[in-house]
Amino acid sequence: MKVAVILLAAGQGTRMKSDLPKVLHPLCGKPMLWHVLEAVKAVTTEKPVVIVGHGAEQVISFVGETANCIRQKPQLGTAHATLQAESLLKGESDVVIVAYGDMPLLQGTTFRRLVESQRDHTGPFSLLTVMAEDPRGFGRIVRSPKGEVEAIVEEAVATPDQLNIHELNAGVYCFQAEWLWNALPRIQKNPLKGEYYLTDVVELAVKDHLTVQAVVHDDLFETIGINTRVDLADAEAAMRKRINRTHMLNGVSMTDPVSTYVEAGVIIGKDTLLMPNTYIHGETVIGSGNVLGPNTIIRDSRIGDRCKVLASVMKGAELEDDIDVGPFARLREGAHLAKGVHMGNFGEVKDSYLAPGVKMGHFSYIGNATIGGNTNIGAGTITCNYDGEKKNPTEIGSDVFIGSDTMLVAPLKIGDGARTGAGAVVTKDVPADTLVVGIPARAIKKLERKTKKY
Ligand code: UD1
Ligand code: CA
Repeated sequence: MKVAVILLAAGQGTRMKSDLPKVLHPLCGKPMLWHVLEAVKAVTTEKPVVIVGHGAEQVISFVGETANCIRQKPQLGTAHATLQAESLLKGESDVVIVAYGDMPLLQGTTFRRLVESQRDHTGPFSLLTVMAEDPRGFGRIVRSPKGEVEAIVEEAVATPDQLNIHELNAGVYCFQAEWLWNALPRIQKNPLKGEYYLTDVVELAVKDHLTVQAVVHDDLFETIGINTRVDLADAEAAMRKRINRTHMLNGVSMTDPVSTYVEAGVIIGKDTLLMPNTYIHGETVIGSGNVLGPNTIIRDSRIGDRCKVLASVMKGAELEDDIDVGPFARLREGAHLAKGVHMGNFGEVKDSYLAPGVKMGHFSYIGNATIGGNTNIGAGTITCNYDGEKKNPTEIGSDVFIGSDTMLVAPLKIGDGARTGAGAVVTKDVPADTLVVGIPARAIKKLERKTKKY
């Protein structure tokens, strides 16, 4: 069965009170629309059609190659929006799914249930309904005494009795394609709002003596439509719970899932423990056996196995295996720490490579530098990499001992096995196995190297 998908995303989202189009508001790090586009992959390999209008440019640029966008102008309601896809889809599929771009929690399995219902019945369409204690905000499903779906009544026009109905229109439909394209032009303008409501397809079907199939869903959260920022926060909490649950079932431990914030798309290996108040964002890939947090923020980074990151911030950084970081460390873009590096409190590393076994325990800034294996960076060491115009590189060899409070004025090379005295201001390259001291640092002694095994 060939499945086409239409996602409606042209509405203004007035109730969001935002300059950003509603469907681009992020949920666990990704725009609402991204989540819906992911979910519909469960039912089709074809590109979905996204109906855009308000903020069209922004939506189109986000969607890129992942869907075909069609403009709806002016926005005359959900039926009118659906009709815009006719030229692209008529005759192209057996069924057409219509869903709203503001329903980011809907799962692929639910779309599949809807398609299966439509495959197994001869009616004109199947629609998703959901039971709710508190039905506010949704269209109500009106059923006949025999239990057949008779109408969807929007809240604004519902009678007090109808307002008491607890079965709601989730806003997801799977239509027999031909029937849909014939029905849409028959929908009348709603006299109250002057809009063409897609929900009126139910009455059309009833008029034609056709039975509408309702797929009753039991998870109200999944069908949340985001209309306000309050809905957005509710959905964020539900999505976070779902993401965390999936990670936990895959072998990730969380001391307190409620205060653990993992964005959609993050990959985490088993036996990694996330401690409270840890945020993992963006394109982050984490291996196994790590302990991350508490109080840690990690974005767009890679972490190997068996690392510890305590109360620290990482962005665009890479940790290999067996590294410990923090508390209070900051790893910035291009920081790459090799196996076994120790980075203690109040350190900052940017655009630098620290080879296996490097130790920088306290209060250091390392920028635009490469540091060789087993080198020790004394407390308070600074690579003075910026001369007011550009960033200059510092190259430190292996088995080097940088004394506390050394200023390394870049560009600069420190040879293997060299040492600097505490408080040295090094302005000239230091040959291998040489001790330099003072301001500016001068060589005072040739050293005998003791290479430690890592
Ligand atoms: C809609 C349903 C309601 C259902 C609820 C579920 C209708 C008439 N009502 O109400 O029965 O319970 O969703 O969340 O369908 N859109 C367009 N073009 C338009 C108008 C809307 O693309 O001209 C898009 C919006 O961007 C949005 C979606 O359609 O993504 C739904 O519109 P919205 O105004 O949010 O409908 P609701 O009032 O929530
Ligand atoms: Ca809505």
